[in-house]
Amino acid sequence: MPEKTKVLIVDDEINLLKTLSDILNRNGYEVAVAKDGPSALGLIEKNGFDIALLDIRMPHMDGVELLERIKVQRPDIEVIIMTAYATIETAKRSIKLGAYDYIQKPLDIDEVLINLKNIAQMKARVEEARFLQNTLQLEHGYEHIIGKSQQIQKVVDTIKKVALSASTVLIMGPSGTGKEMVADAIHYSSRRCSKPYVKINCAAFPENLLESELFGYEKGAFTGADKQKKGKFEVANEGTLFLDEIGDMPFSMQAKLLRVLESGEFERLGGNELIKVNVRFIAATNQNLSKMLQEKRFRSDLFYRLNTVILNLPPLVERSEDIPLLVDHFLARFSREMSRKRPDVSDEAMKLILSYPWPGNVRELANAVERAVIFCEEGVIKPQDLPPSIQHGLLEGHTEHLSEDLRLETVESRHISGVLKLTGGNKNEAARKLGIHRETLYKKLKKFNLPD
Ligand SMILES: Nc1ncnc2c1ncn2[C@@H]1O[C@H](COP(=O)(O)OP(=O)(O)OP(=O)(O)O)[C@@H](O)[C@H]1O
Ligand SMILES: [Mg+2]
Repeated sequence: MPEKTKVLIVDDEINLLKTLSDILNRNGYEVAVAKDGPSALGLIEKNGFDIALLDIRMPHMDGVELLERIKVQRPDIEVIIMTAYATIETAKRSIKLGAYDYIQKPLDIDEVLINLKNIAQMKARVEEARFLQNTLQLEHGYEHIIGKSQQIQKVVDTIKKVALSASTVLIMGPSGTGKEMVADAIHYSSRRCSKPYVKINCAAFPENLLESELFGYEKGAFTGADKQKKGKFEVANEGTLFLDEIGDMPFSMQAKLLRVLESGEFERLGGNELIKVNVRFIAATNQNLSKMLQEKRFRSDLFYRLNTVILNLPPLVERSEDIPLLVDHFLARFSREMSRKRPDVSDEAMKLILSYPWPGNVRELANAVERAVIFCEEGVIKPQDLPPSIQHGLLEGHTEHLSEDLRLETVESRHISGVLKLTGGNKNEAARKLGIHRETLYKKLKKFNLPD
């Protein structure tokens, strides 16, 4: 669903406020009302509005003065002046002060609706243009998500589709598959990209701390609360809140979160003021939520509220066609960061990389490439530049090789001849790389019947 256009109506006639806001609500607008200028300015300070409808004759501050103040405070709000016959000349002059248009009272509802629709469309076009320009410059957009596999392409497509809406997104996938990266891409590709982007790791706090982090608290709410503190919900107002590791949120907190997701309303701890926020929620977890639902460790009502859009990030082994692209990407990134020439990857090293199961997924791959860029010599990444677990990947993850001869002697002999190949037959260098004395190497060559 696209974001609703937010309209503020300011008039001292309570009946008009009520009737007009009902009609606009029914026509899909989000409406707030104020009965005079000062309270309108208070609302504008706290909330974002797209359009303001202002009466001219009001106590305390007339509509023209209010228009001028709004244009100073929030020039992006479009203003429509509502005028009775007696003040029509003033209304015409208000156009010069920046009003979008004026409409005469008694109001013709169709005219009001047409005006609002025109403004909403104009603003959408402006925002669209701004958005396109923004994403081009962005560092965190979806164009940084590497991968040609169908699964990743689908994720990128979905990000593009949901970015411009305000829907809640749930990202699932094992550790290191890029969940946070995807959350970043959604926020930075959305209309909220210049608004706050707040992250909280739900697994990082014990229950009562998590609650005060999210909800904030009033002074004196508990021992140690010596001043009021805003929680993440409030700090993220108008922007995006990323709830990371939501599967680790304590069960009782889940109910409290659900209420905020549904109403956008909450109170700070120890407070009774009802605070309303407009936040887009993105949640992520590496836990199996369906299993947690069955075990009643995750609330099903919260799950159904979160699962409007689900993005599944599969483990790297299930999309091995992405591995070479990711290796390329990380090679470029780390050699740039270390101001080194971008190394090549030898065929042997690439073979190991492709056959390793990557239990730590993309993060593990990134770390392995970073290490290899540091260790490699002569501009080529060789097997020995990879972490030991990957060099010996055949021994660890891959059950299809278990029928092979895995006696230590066989592996040792294979390893020695591999290292000799790497050093081009240079035994001094091979012994050094193997961490053994040259004499020991000769003995082993003889023992394993290798050419010496
Ligand atoms: N498709 C991808 N393209 C480029 N970089 C990626 C991709 N996926 C992951 N990365 C990189 O891998 C690292 C780990 O990603 P991220 O932190 O988003 O994973 P995660 O799923 O949130 O992990 P965890 O569950 O452990 O929190 C980051 O450095 C991220 O930039
Ligand atoms: Mg993460």
